[in-house]
Amino acid sequence: MLLTGGGLGWAQPAMRPLPLIPLTDLTGGIEDRVSLSLGLGRHDFGTGTASDTFGINNAYLGPVLRVKQGQTLPFDVANNIGDTSTIHWHGLHIPGDVDGGPHQEIAPDAVWSPDVPIVQHASMNWLHSHMHGKTARQTYNGLAGVLLVEDDASLSADLPKTYGVDDFTLVLQDKMFDANGRMTYELSAAVFEDGFEGDTLVINGAIAPVGQNVPTGLVRLRILNACNARFLGLSMEAGPITVIASDGGFLAAPVAVESILMSPGERYEVLVDMKTFETNTLNVNLNGDGGGFFENLFGGGQTVPALSLTRTADKGFDGAMPTQLANLEPPKPEDATVTRSFQLEMDVGADLAALALAWDNFCGDAGAMAINGQPMKMDRIDEEVRKGDTEIWRISVDDQLHPFHIHGCSFRILSQNGAPPPAYAAGWKDMVHVEEGWSEVLVRFDYEATKDAPYMYHCHILEHEDCGMMGQFTVS
Ligand code: C2O
Ligand code: CU
Ligand code: CU
Repeated sequence: MLLTGGGLGWAQPAMRPLPLIPLTDLTGGIEDRVSLSLGLGRHDFGTGTASDTFGINNAYLGPVLRVKQGQTLPFDVANNIGDTSTIHWHGLHIPGDVDGGPHQEIAPDAVWSPDVPIVQHASMNWLHSHMHGKTARQTYNGLAGVLLVEDDASLSADLPKTYGVDDFTLVLQDKMFDANGRMTYELSAAVFEDGFEGDTLVINGAIAPVGQNVPTGLVRLRILNACNARFLGLSMEAGPITVIASDGGFLAAPVAVESILMSPGERYEVLVDMKTFETNTLNVNLNGDGGGFFENLFGGGQTVPALSLTRTADKGFDGAMPTQLANLEPPKPEDATVTRSFQLEMDVGADLAALALAWDNFCGDAGAMAINGQPMKMDRIDEEVRKGDTEIWRISVDDQLHPFHIHGCSFRILSQNGAPPPAYAAGWKDMVHVEEGWSEVLVRFDYEATKDAPYMYHCHILEHEDCGMMGQFTVS
């Protein structure tokens, strides 16, 4: 097999079909417990060789779970990977004791059975390992899935919603493969510093580019950046990229822009007009740049023609591009009664190279990265929040670009890098990034998190999180 040097990794001449992640649709009702089995798998990403992976009910990755507001999900999460793990429901507004963070460990061969109430509006959420010190590797290996929340409004909205026909879920990841085509993951001091970055883009478990035939009309893409550390720049080859929803739900109205920046952990939904265009391609810039022609030409990063859509003759979703999506009031920072500041720190003097060598659960109590001077400690609560208070959380960094995430809530971004957020990131979010100055979010917590089951806030570069760039808070 051929490896191209440095650039695209396993660049494949032949386009493969977009794999559809199996859908578990519970919106019509739940009759039984919902079983999720974390297991070992073998999966060929398209190199011709199977890699050892983890999966959730699948050989690699989890199912797309589609659920409805008002339901309570009776999960049975069975751990069959031979190592302790957890499953966190990223984006859900749920109490700390069912949040699936590092305190809710599932021992090998054990089953964790949380009843997870779905109270929030339609939104794209996800699930992934949150095993302290091992989140990066377990998630990379495949312990990640998608959880789509629908509500009455979204189910009756005039939007494409036929899964696998005009409504696609895309899980974007970057991978490294060895010369034999096996997925690899190796740590070094540099990987700790930048987070793990693969040279090959993978969509739903298949090496890009992938292609999909779609009917004439509007096509909906629900996109998750499930990379450990990579920021991705997304754009369409023809026309703008039209965003309709962010992490926590619909925007007020579609936002059409040249490109969007997606941090690890972020979700965006976009609509593609396949009435006007016969073919169109989702381009992904691996360096998080806009993917514009000149940026590529002048070294702005590698752009992969990731997903190419081809219109077939059949008529699909016939509606027009919506002009209005949801009621979204502007955030009211004047309501905040508490302000907290979080300084993310890369360098607290630890020997990263030594930690990389001693990988296995290196983090433990010897974190090498920190927030407000403190590496994450399982038995230390960093913040105590009063339930129902509106707060401003301000985040800054000492170095490089970091994506910050808060459990148990959706928030609104007041500023990102000291400036107002782009319109596509001005709705409900649980991720904000910061590189310089302050990023500020307006947030309120409505559910309880005790000191035995606290919520986390952390950098979503998973190696940074494992390395201690995380803190814990209670809500009561
Ligand atoms: Cu994606 Cu603490 O989570
Ligand atoms: Cu989370
Ligand atoms: Cu970070």
